[in-house]
Amino acid sequence: MSVLHTDIGELTTNDPAIGTLRDAAVVVDGERIAWVGEARQAPAADERVSCEGAAVVPGFVDSHAHLVFAGERSAEFEARATGRPYSAGGIRTTVAATRAASDETLAAGVSALAGELLAAGVTTFECKSGYGLTVDDERRALEIAGRFTPETTFLGAHVVPEGARRDDYVDLVRGPMLDACAPRARWVDVFCEKGAFDVDESRAVLEAGAARGLGIRVHAGQLGIGGGVQLAVELGAAAVDHCTYLSDEDVAALAASETVATLLPGVEFSTRTAWSDGRRLLDAGATVALATDCNPGSSFTSNPGFCIALAVRHMGLSPAEALSAFTAGGAAALRRTDVGAIAPGMRADLVRLAAPSFVHLAYRPGVPLVSEVVRAGVRYTVGRRAVPVGRATEGVDA
Ligand code: NIG
Ligand code: FE
Repeated sequence: MSVLHTDIGELTTNDPAIGTLRDAAVVVDGERIAWVGEARQAPAADERVSCEGAAVVPGFVDSHAHLVFAGERSAEFEARATGRPYSAGGIRTTVAATRAASDETLAAGVSALAGELLAAGVTTFECKSGYGLTVDDERRALEIAGRFTPETTFLGAHVVPEGARRDDYVDLVRGPMLDACAPRARWVDVFCEKGAFDVDESRAVLEAGAARGLGIRVHAGQLGIGGGVQLAVELGAAAVDHCTYLSDEDVAALAASETVATLLPGVEFSTRTAWSDGRRLLDAGATVALATDCNPGSSFTSNPGFCIALAVRHMGLSPAEALSAFTAGGAAALRRTDVGAIAPGMRADLVRLAAPSFVHLAYRPGVPLVSEVVRAGVRYTVGRRAVPVGRATEGVDA
């Protein structure tokens, strides 16, 4: 079954050979993109869909999210809004609620957030454990995450849980916990930060994960400059995430490496901390990704458009760089070559905007602009109009 998506006013492909096209079309065949080009040259297909002049961009790739949790922390957010600083300590509140929740509750929570992400245009997302912090609770978090995405990340080293001795806990994480979790994870991650794990502890956990075949990702530079970025680069991590506080050496190391610097503007918004300097990283030659970091503590947003708007306003990225960071950048951060661009052979992940240009993602912050999502060839329409109750089929504009 092939579908011709045509009358695309502006098509951002992220493919250097194709570039940005006007009056464009894309042919989707099954799960893959079969053809991309000017609408007037498009080949015939089984079905024709008019995009009516709208902008189309690649599906967003959210390379950093913590979706397996119970409860919420709006009181902590409210306290921050009146001056209390963010610390890693709040994670333990979510750990207690998550341990107490049933599998069904946790899965329903992930399902709801995965639905939000899809409606916001996210066609690939990563999902971490890290609110269980026992062998059984971490294993079940990954089992639940794996029902929704193949990009599962073991984050047993999120914080040292209440009542545990540091050394004992690190030994547990890099031994029995990894044994139980590695078969259910693609990645291993560590929160390498003051208040969480130091460089030696982080190295021990990451090396143990790599020895079991997991790819490496690291949380670092969120609360201050530390050794986490250098460690990530040294170990060949796919990505180091946060990068709010970076030394010149950190920036140089990232620029000379394959490790992607993932910026999380939702965190800086929610925790009222300084903004990452995306411009500094791009100018140095580093690869930059943007992600939501959707989690109940430091960034409870599932909306790439919002993050793109923040990155444009506060991190020195142009609208084009921010869009690229949340698509191609996210794909690079997950070492995926099948997503993040619109080109023949890629997975058919498209986002149609109710706008003539992708620039509206930053120009119209907070407005739900995604009107249709195609994920692996499957079409989803996203509603954004108010319809009178009881007359849902009439589609009357508000
Ligand atoms: O990415 N930094 C560590 N982990 C999360 C925060 C989790 C939480 O506060 O619950 C983050 O910001
Ligand atoms: Fe995180």
